[in-house]
Amino acid sequence: MAARIIFLFLLPFLPYSVSDFRSPAMPVDELVALLDLVGGLIAEPGWAELHPHPCTDTPWPGIQCEVAAGDTDILHVTGIHVGADVSPSPPCKSSAFLSPDSLLHLPFLKTFSLFGCFLSPNSVSLPPSIFTNSSSLEQLVLDANTGLTGEIPSSVSKLKRLRVFCLSQNAFHGVIPEEIGSLRSLQELDLSYNRFRGEIPVEIGELSSLRIIDLSSNELQGELPASIGSLHSLQKIDLSLNYLSGRVPPELGELKNLVLLDFSNNNLTGPLPDALSRLNELEYFLMENNPLNTSIPLFLGGLKKLQVIGISGCGLLGSIPSFFASLVSLTALSLDKNSLNGSVPESLGSLPKLGQLNLSQNQLSGEIGFSEEFVRRLGKRLDVRDNHGLCTKVHKYQEDSFNLEAPPCLGSTANNGRIGNNSLGGNSGDQEPGDLKINPSSNGNGGTGSWHELGFLSGLIFLGQLTLQAIAIVMTLAV
Ligand SMILES: *[C@@H]1O[C@H](CO)[C@@H](O)[C@H](O)[C@H]1NC(C)=O
Ligand SMILES: *[C@@H]1O[C@H](CO)[C@@H](O)[C@H](O)[C@H]1NC(C)=O
Ligand SMILES: *[C@@H]1O[C@H](CO)[C@@H](O)[C@H](O)[C@H]1NC(C)=O
Ligand SMILES: *[C@@H]1O[C@H](CO)[C@@H](O)[C@H](O)[C@H]1NC(C)=O
Ligand SMILES: *[C@@H]1O[C@H](CO)[C@@H](O)[C@H](O)[C@H]1NC(C)=O
Ligand SMILES: *[C@@H]1O[C@H](CO)[C@@H](O)[C@H](O)[C@H]1NC(C)=O
Repeated sequence: MAARIIFLFLLPFLPYSVSDFRSPAMPVDELVALLDLVGGLIAEPGWAELHPHPCTDTPWPGIQCEVAAGDTDILHVTGIHVGADVSPSPPCKSSAFLSPDSLLHLPFLKTFSLFGCFLSPNSVSLPPSIFTNSSSLEQLVLDANTGLTGEIPSSVSKLKRLRVFCLSQNAFHGVIPEEIGSLRSLQELDLSYNRFRGEIPVEIGELSSLRIIDLSSNELQGELPASIGSLHSLQKIDLSLNYLSGRVPPELGELKNLVLLDFSNNNLTGPLPDALSRLNELEYFLMENNPLNTSIPLFLGGLKKLQVIGISGCGLLGSIPSFFASLVSLTALSLDKNSLNGSVPESLGSLPKLGQLNLSQNQLSGEIGFSEEFVRRLGKRLDVRDNHGLCTKVHKYQEDSFNLEAPPCLGSTANNGRIGNNSLGGNSGDQEPGDLKINPSSNGNGGTGSWHELGFLSGLIFLGQLTLQAIAIVMTLAV
């Protein structure tokens, strides 16, 4: 991003921007094409007349120029950036359009970027003819144009030098054309926040220079193509918020440089392939809200650089393995909204960087054995709500008033802390997010036992030893 911005400010400092005895000049047809293009976009009709020398005497913000190779008297436009984020450039007009011929007459253009320029209800699409094999385009960035619609023309494949292709937050639809696979120089592909549908084309695997792929928040369906595994330079893959289904192909284990994997909010099924144990550089593993319906994948325990693991809402079964304690870089672990049972490994509390732990909405049981220091450090970011069998040692956290929602363990730990099959802390997750404390001022609405009842009950338990039967009676009265 920084690289994209820099050139905007560079211009005034270039030597030929100063009025000179003999300034280099732009070829007339190029100047006409530039005026034509920008004239179609911006709101100020007199802009071009007031700025007849966009590269030199009357520089335009957002325009980048370079002297021609071999002829220092000639200037070419190499970068155009128009949009709400360029100042003091005039804003785009409500009827902004893309003059189809103008791009063709800017053969030295390397960067073309429009930000928030075509805004709905203005509706603009990319004419297929604007992309030709004589283009020098390396970066095509059209972001946040709510009126930019239609499909990606397959002619985009003619842009052989394209390194950055970003169409985030527009209104594109249709399928991702398979021709995209011939953009062999592509390093960054961002089609996020549009309405692309259909399958991810297999040809995507031919983009061997790709480092970032973001197709999040679209309507993509079908299975993940195994060819993604051939993208050996890939560092970030975000396919979240789509309708992708089926299993994650084992070939993805070949992505040795991957740092971020986000497949959250899809329809992917388990089990995840063990081959993912080879993603040794992985720092972010986000798989939330997919029907994996398996136990917690063991390969995670071998990925020592992991910082964030999000596997909530995955239908996970069985117990929480102890290996998490060996992931010493972990800062956030989300296991909420699953069907995990068994006890909470006390060793989680020894993770030095852990700042967020969500275990809520599972079937965990037994005593929470975290140190007071750990509970204090995480505060509200430790969430154990809605686990019907969890309890805490009464005296342990109360001095710091960290009242875990889980009730105090009764009597000896021989009963494993279980106090019945109903929820004492059974409150819905809709309460103040992350609130781990018993908060009498919260509005308990519905569910078994509001916050008020809970406080009442806890008070009783503090007062004396209650038997299981007594609690059952109190519950009955309270509900
Ligand atoms: C560009 O396309 C034209 C016609 O579409 C073709 O004749 C020409 O050979 C192509 N040039 C290159 C370098 O591919
Ligand atoms: C999810 O995938 C299953 C098949 O695995 C299919 O029956 C279901 O309709 C899919 N759901 C969505 C929302 O796509
Ligand atoms: C996964 O488990 C959920 C809840 O237990 C269930 O509704 C869903 O049908 C299961 N999906 C698959 C693919 O088994
Ligand atoms: C946890 O759930 C699994 C099935 O999902 C079951 O086989 C196992 O006995 C349960 N363990 C405990 C401690 O409840
Ligand atoms: C467990 O809950 C069910 C349904 O809420 C209830 O019918 C049953 O009596 C409860 N069992 C115990 C031991 O409390
Ligand atoms: C923990 O997860 C639950 C359920 O997904 C959610 O409602 C709650 O806000 C989360 N807590 C924190 C502290 O993020």
